[in-house]
Amino acid sequence: MDYFIKNIVSLLKEKIDLPEDEIKRLLEIPPDFKMGDYAFPCYSLSKTLKKSPNAIAGELAQAIPVDKPIEAVRAVGPYINFFLDKATRAKTVLKTIFEERDGYGHADVGKGKTVVIDFSSPNIAKHLGVHHLRSALIGNAICNIYKTLGYPCVGINHLGDWGTQFGQLIVAYKKWGSENAHASYTVADLNNLYVRFHQEAEKIPGLEDEARAWFKKLEAGDTEANELWQHFKDISLKEFQKIYDMLGIHFDAFVGESFYNTMVEDTITRIKEKGLSRVSEQALIVDLEPYKMPPCLLRKKDDTTLYATRDIAAAEYRKKTYDFDRMIYVVGSEQKLHFNQFFKVLELMGHDWARRCVHVDFGLMKFKDGKMSTRKGKVILLEDLLIEAVERIGKIIEEKNPSLENKETVARDVGIGAVIFADLSTKRNKDVVFDWDEVLNFEGETGPYVQYTHARLCSILRKYWKPVTADIRFELLKEDETTILIKNLGQFPQIILKAAEFYEPSLICNYLIDVCGSLNRFYNAHRVLSDDEELTKARILLVDATRQVIKNGLNILGMQAPEQM
Ligand code: ARG
Repeated sequence: MDYFIKNIVSLLKEKIDLPEDEIKRLLEIPPDFKMGDYAFPCYSLSKTLKKSPNAIAGELAQAIPVDKPIEAVRAVGPYINFFLDKATRAKTVLKTIFEERDGYGHADVGKGKTVVIDFSSPNIAKHLGVHHLRSALIGNAICNIYKTLGYPCVGINHLGDWGTQFGQLIVAYKKWGSENAHASYTVADLNNLYVRFHQEAEKIPGLEDEARAWFKKLEAGDTEANELWQHFKDISLKEFQKIYDMLGIHFDAFVGESFYNTMVEDTITRIKEKGLSRVSEQALIVDLEPYKMPPCLLRKKDDTTLYATRDIAAAEYRKKTYDFDRMIYVVGSEQKLHFNQFFKVLELMGHDWARRCVHVDFGLMKFKDGKMSTRKGKVILLEDLLIEAVERIGKIIEEKNPSLENKETVARDVGIGAVIFADLSTKRNKDVVFDWDEVLNFEGETGPYVQYTHARLCSILRKYWKPVTADIRFELLKEDETTILIKNLGQFPQIILKAAEFYEPSLICNYLIDVCGSLNRFYNAHRVLSDDEELTKARILLVDATRQVIKNGLNILGMQAPEQM
């Protein structure tokens, strides 16, 4: 428990008859810092004490002894407001950051509780979609958030590499594929084959049946089908990997839907044995009518399995393999029903851990000018989007700071960071509107702004050049702007916990924007480097702590923190 909260809880405990946990739960943070650091509402005491909450607050505020780390206790209406001693807070917060450094914000609440995170999960033989990018960025941030809290995390890319569409692709490839040189095949070529298949299927009767037959062959392990499929998969993975490398995203496993092909039969057998399934119009389904959902389709009438069947098998396999405490699926909101359905089937199968499977959904990414504004055309090619971000930032650097060292690296870190921050800073279930001018604006609530603030702090520290020390006179850090900044910095561990609880990286983005705002207000009001040696030392420690917190926050989001830009 936070040092200050512990203190306040024990002071209150002496005066009121409530368990410690309950007191802690009731403790609030007032909206305005002028109202104190913590506030205790007295409503819940009113019944037992038979007095109005206001009267209780008044009496208790009088009775509570004022001693460090508390500076004052005041009653305001039904609340008892606690004001912390500024120097004690400055010392506690800044010393902790100074000592923990890159580890500030880390906790061990997740020790031994494995979290499996299924994210990005694109479909092979197609370009990585914008929703796969969003899933990659949100999933990666959630992974980092949980790791920071001590949870062992397993990041899985559940590739869409199975299904009837691969039968279609095989047919198309065999018929028209040789028109293109084998070795130089790209995802775009595969995509074109799909399109061609659908065009021709309208004219050529029997083409669809041919495709279904090929997928059946694939499921049955046919060599030719499998070789072609592997070829498509290799081409796709190469393209995906390029994008993940640009984003600095790593997966512990690339295990696609195909992997579960050999397990689905066993899963279906157990579902049947439990009496959960029935045949309807020649397909095998689990009726979910009692739960007000359409049926979950397990097997089509041509005997091939489906997306949901493979997800059920995958969930069971992952439970067996990782014994997870929680499994998180980062997938767009449009698949809500799919997740509700197969989570329900898992529950009906008797898996009590089904309740610990979570669908972390998110909205769409829209582009301000309708589609997408890369110069190359209308299709959203993510690689182009990222390259364009880096190029645009490169141009800005060239204008503003042409002599900067490592220009290319900085442009990449800031360009990619801008896209990441733009994606993550909106509450995840809302749609994101992507607008180049906003995303790259160094003065807006953007990635470049946060990174630039970090670089400015680094530059102050370079100017100071002496080593930073925590051996300072903390009582010198007393002005309002200073106090607010310190308070902000002290909230970081709480913010991470909250971001984990709600699977919401945007909380960290908002927090970083707040910290940058507080820092700028502090910096505009007070000189850091002055002739007053003691004061300079104290403010430098604050600058260094702010730099550290911004860096840690950016890293959790999956962004770099350049020291110069
Ligand atoms: N490949 C799917 C799609 O693009 C997403 C897979 C998400 N993960 C899962 N276990 N269903 O829609």
